[in-house]
Amino acid sequence: VTGARYDTIGQTYSATRRTDPRIAEQLHAALGDARRIVNVGAGTGSYEPAGPKVVAVDPSMAMLQQRRPDAAPCVQGIAEALPFRDLAFDAALAVLTLHHWNDVASGIAELRRVASRQVLLTLEPSFTNDLWLVRDYFPEVVDLPTERRLPDTETLRELFATNATVTPVLIPADCIDGFAGCYWNRPEAYLDTAIQDGMSMFAQLDRDLRRCGTEQLRADLASGRWDEKYGALRKLEQVDLGYRLLVSGEVC
Ligand SMILES: C[S@@+](CC[C@H](N)C(=O)[O-])C[C@H]1O[C@@H](n2cnc3c(N)ncnc32)[C@H](O)[C@@H]1O
Repeated sequence: VTGARYDTIGQTYSATRRTDPRIAEQLHAALGDARRIVNVGAGTGSYEPAGPKVVAVDPSMAMLQQRRPDAAPCVQGIAEALPFRDLAFDAALAVLTLHHWNDVASGIAELRRVASRQVLLTLEPSFTNDLWLVRDYFPEVVDLPTERRLPDTETLRELFATNATVTPVLIPADCIDGFAGCYWNRPEAYLDTAIQDGMSMFAQLDRDLRRCGTEQLRADLASGRWDEKYGALRKLEQVDLGYRLLVSGEVC
């Protein structure tokens, strides 16, 4: 299946990636009382609500195999060609997956075809460069295919061709999801190879660049340089890192 890159980079995903309850609350509120939900790019099943009937779709067998035994049923497939009839679902959920699709426009057209409401968690690309992690240690990240493919909010609105609402999702100081921005105030976490392996930006980076950036961060933490520059972050409760909740379509 096209797009099964996660068969390589997602092998240990469930070891470090999980549902953050604060983010889940916002996604679930946006799903309203939808009773039939398709989770596209579902991976290991984070953020799938427990009550409604959920079907998960993902191209990567390695990701689908890490779903819990009691998780919703899943189908191997891609967003660009969903194997469902028109309006088969009340809502389509797509969490942190858009940037991995080969054809974002076709994927969004499919979300609109199979569901009357769409709920997405995505990242505003202009923020990537502002992350200290990227700017100071891994600047090559901005050129990765996934980053270049990320549509900005305005492009997304045009692709939805509706009055989509876009709201910042602030990332709490003790966020537990494990995505790239998760440890914005806990820099030591980025020295951990297992944590890096759960983030697609590290998995795609050239091995030497990854090692160099990590060693620089290790040195800056040991010398106190990181804290001189960014130590104030350790005291904040939440920040806007560019994560965005997009809701489009009919209220369920
Ligand atoms: C960062 S993971 C997110 C998984 C899950 N939504 C979560 O929040 O943990 C990105 C997922 O997108 C999937 N993916 C990649 N290409 C895709 C495509 N064309 N259509 C649907 N999903 C795709 C990957 O296999 C992977 O499971």
